[in-house]
Amino acid sequence: MKIAVLAERAEGEARVAATPETVKKFIALGAKVSVEAGAGLAAAISDEAYREAGAEVGTAAATVKGVEIVLAVQAPDVNLLKGANPGAWVAAVFDPFGRKDRVEAYAEAGFEALAMEFMPRITRAQSMDVLSSQSNLAGYKAVIAAADQFGRAFPMMMTAAGTVQAARVFVMGVGVAGLQAIATAKRLGAQVSATDVRSATKEQIQSLGAKPIFVENVAGIEGEGAGGYATEMSPEYQAAQAELVSSHIARQDIVITTALIPGRTAPRLITDAQIATMKPGSVIFDLAVAQGGNVEGSAADQVVEKHSVFIMGYSNTPAHLAADTSALFARNHYNFLSAFWDKEQGKPVLDEEIGNAVRLTQGGKIVNERLAG
Ligand code: NAI
Repeated sequence: MKIAVLAERAEGEARVAATPETVKKFIALGAKVSVEAGAGLAAAISDEAYREAGAEVGTAAATVKGVEIVLAVQAPDVNLLKGANPGAWVAAVFDPFGRKDRVEAYAEAGFEALAMEFMPRITRAQSMDVLSSQSNLAGYKAVIAAADQFGRAFPMMMTAAGTVQAARVFVMGVGVAGLQAIATAKRLGAQVSATDVRSATKEQIQSLGAKPIFVENVAGIEGEGAGGYATEMSPEYQAAQAELVSSHIARQDIVITTALIPGRTAPRLITDAQIATMKPGSVIFDLAVAQGGNVEGSAADQVVEKHSVFIMGYSNTPAHLAADTSALFARNHYNFLSAFWDKEQGKPVLDEEIGNAVRLTQGGKIVNERLAG
């Protein structure tokens, strides 16, 4: 049973899908692990560290030769998998809605594509959930990057020369990333407020010591859909939200937006007219910029200055913290495969609930019901 870890090839991707820690753990399960040379360098892991953990380190072709499971952060191009065993599994983020062509190529090549982002949101799969592990650190990084761009301090400071006021931070979208953004901004000493369409988040915001800003008394207020995700809101709700945001945003120094709706482009939360009401030097970090953006005018990997407000966002925020995000991503992979490890067969055997959720292709066909039709 051989597991391969390839170097990531997507532009700007600095993460790696296994660490020396998880290599050791896979070997303890009875697997052999091969790692492409240089795979961990951008995440501060040397080839030597993989070797010391027991992995073979070599070329991409040698790495995938005779392999049964390939681990990646972003799904590799199918051409890189030549030499892998027929029916080999590839566990990675596939962007199945955006990259149907790649899913089709995997089906055609006879591989089993396992989309880590389709992990069901059930308690026993929490430790396998890459969306959560990566969003958590992304929420942290958004605040740090915004703080760096901001020309003022976050905490209130009393100095002999006078008082520096605390920054006001507003977090829009309180999922995993938003909660971490609130916690980080609080730790830095900011005054923090936050909003979401899911009313369940109100208590979570309060428990972190931040102020909830919520649309009240409007039809369709309960924006929670399947798996704890948000649903698209009614036009009436959207109008009420826009009004509320307009009055609040003008008084904020930093806004962090994190709102996503699975399988759709990100909802627009801030318009150009609203940006114009903000104070000069304010900063907006759009964590959803790669999914279409929550903020009008945001552009990936750029700091856009509009109405003297800085609008920023990264195309791949987790890659900006590659050592930590890789460690968590690698553990998600390990937790996933080890939970299903069949000792007699010496390999993992997925159950129906999780297997059917994450499996995109099998036996030459696309088999995932979310991709049907
Ligand atoms: P997400 O990344 O899909 O969206 C981010 C946030 O944006 C969500 O809180 C969403 O409600 C909010 N949002 C969407 N449209 C909005 C709008 N128009 N205005 C304001 N906010 C808007 O969400 P994420 O971070 O993946 O988490 C969603 C929920 O799933 C959370 O309650 C989380 O605790 C839960 N969860 C459960 C897991 C499990 O049980 N295994 C694992 C991970 C998350």
